[in-house]
Amino acid sequence: MLTLIRVCHSVTNFGMVFMKAVIVPSFGDSDVLTLVDHAEPIPGLGRVVVKMEAAGVGYVDVMARKGDYQPLSEPGFVPGLEAAGTVAAVGKGVDARWTGQRVFLLTKCGAYAEAIEVGERDLVRLPAGVSAAEAVALGINALVAGLGLDRANVKKGDRVLVRGAGGGIGLMAAQLATLAEGEVTAITSSPERADRLRELGVARVLDRSEGVDGRGEGYDVVVDPVAGADLGRYIEGLRPNGRYLLVGSAGGVPEPDTFQSFLAGYHNSPTLIAFSLNSVGPETVGVAAAALFDQAARGDLRGVIDEQFPLAEAHRAHERLESAPVFGKITLHP
Ligand SMILES: NC(=O)c1ccc[n+]([C@@H]2O[C@H](COP(=O)([O-])OP(=O)(O)OC[C@H]3O[C@@H](n4cnc5c(N)ncnc54)[C@H](OP(=O)(O)O)[C@@H]3O)[C@@H](O)[C@H]2O)c1
Repeated sequence: MLTLIRVCHSVTNFGMVFMKAVIVPSFGDSDVLTLVDHAEPIPGLGRVVVKMEAAGVGYVDVMARKGDYQPLSEPGFVPGLEAAGTVAAVGKGVDARWTGQRVFLLTKCGAYAEAIEVGERDLVRLPAGVSAAEAVALGINALVAGLGLDRANVKKGDRVLVRGAGGGIGLMAAQLATLAEGEVTAITSSPERADRLRELGVARVLDRSEGVDGRGEGYDVVVDPVAGADLGRYIEGLRPNGRYLLVGSAGGVPEPDTFQSFLAGYHNSPTLIAFSLNSVGPETVGVAAAALFDQAARGDLRGVIDEQFPLAEAHRAHERLESAPVFGKITLHP
């Protein structure tokens, strides 16, 4: 099927070389995802075109596909926020030495395609030893975890509790807090997931399927991608001067009286931090991503891939993400 796609970037030009891309022609279930032929982008001023080798699949893509993600309100777009590959062409004003470089990129949408047009400032060079798939496996999850831990000022000796540690952000946060020499406790949901976290170097893992959940043990930092009904009780478990880092709500919306838990701990001077990657600019992302990729190149930090799918089977990748808990990242490949 040859079709016109709605792209996020107003400056995109198209040529007459065709590529494969996945579009959301109308909002709905995973089977709306459709592989189409489309003219390849031509890089505009200050922009580049990257040949995609791996693209990340995340919950934001699922929300966008369903029409539940606010910034993309009309169907007809190519989903996908992160990818890695090789710079194939550069536009006017871009250093020509980018051509042929292996890079990671973040974009507003458009990563589910063989070629992606982004601004030069959205590129992060990949060090030798970090594959495109591993870069995407680290990608947004490691950036959220790493920049979030910075905001929570995690330091050597801090007692750090990571909720949802078997999830994408959680398993990065558990590794990074361990690398920062925190005393890490990770909460997950099965013995298998607990074993895999231990293999990644996490010292203490609690399995909530066995009825243990780490609440009330006294932590300097709680990293929370889960939120949900238990959020208040975890706030109550903070030590004096503790920091609560909220980075997501995989477990749903907290109880309306959650703020009472914050007030109840007032004399312990707790700090509540909400962190979203949307709030930081490309320079900050670039510096953080380069440091994370260096940690991976040294073998200190590991990107974890749950399953890889061909681009043509993006619908199966979404089904996988929605049907059962994943451990690590789902990736797409041309
Ligand atoms: N802050 C940002 O910039 C940013 C960026 C991307 C995504 N997000 C958001 O962050 C959240 C997590 O994303 P993710 O990619 O890490 O998701 P994920 O891979 O699905 O991980 C979430 C994990 O939370 C745990 N969990 C789920 N429901 C739970 C419940 N009811 N009670 C306790 N634990 C529960 C599970 O971990 P275990 O099986 O190990 O228990 C699950 O694997 C989502 O809300 C996502 O939209 C935020």
